[in-house]
Amino acid sequence: MKIIIVKDSNEGGQKGFEVFQKAKQSGAKVFGLATGSTPITTYQNICDSDLDFTQDVSINLDEYVGLAANNPQSYHYFMQKNWFDKKPFKRSFVPDGKAVDISKELKYYDQVINNHPVDLQILGIGRNGHIGFNEPGTPFDSTTHEVALTKSTIDANSRFFDNENEVPKSAISMGLSSIMKSKHILMEAYGEKKAKAIQAMIEGPVTPEVPASILQKHDNVTVIIDEAAASLLKK
Ligand code: GLP
Repeated sequence: MKIIIVKDSNEGGQKGFEVFQKAKQSGAKVFGLATGSTPITTYQNICDSDLDFTQDVSINLDEYVGLAANNPQSYHYFMQKNWFDKKPFKRSFVPDGKAVDISKELKYYDQVINNHPVDLQILGIGRNGHIGFNEPGTPFDSTTHEVALTKSTIDANSRFFDNENEVPKSAISMGLSSIMKSKHILMEAYGEKKAKAIQAMIEGPVTPEVPASILQKHDNVTVIIDEAAASLLKK
């Protein structure tokens, strides 16, 4: 793993932007995207730049079950506001949280990923080491699946909702084996709340108990973290 330690998320967003810029210069056409507060500075820099994605495809990691694309709390809506409205792709895929037949949607999404191999996948990390919505215990060979969210993830995400009861209890997530197929993975993490997960991801054993630890097995991962998120690293 290539680890870049930055001062804060603003500097991280600049470095994150440079990773996207370089990937595009090398011909990347399919971008795996994440939501959450972490990638926002990278997305801002991208949207303020002259990079053009109108010939490219984006595939998002996950979506809450039960939320429509126009629901302000949905990940689809987040992507519209933080990226797609400002800089459109030729085609953008986000799992359909309102799909009538969820198992059909899961299969369809796997097909989307197989038809458009991801060149660069951006990831955030949950406090318990989850990536996408792959919670601890998710098998490493998982493909797109429906996930029951853990209490810690529901608590962490409740800040975006009026109260905790409104946080959906399940989600659709790209699986760990799908994420691992991406040619290049960019992980960003900021703040001391992420320090334990970052230490376990980089220096701990590779175990489904820390889903992000699977990234140790990928040969092209760039990690951008601030000093607080790096504070528990031993080396
Ligand atoms: C959610 C998302 C993840 C994201 C994580 C961290 O659980 N499903 O993709 O990485 O939150 O979010 P944040 O960046 O806001 O800390």
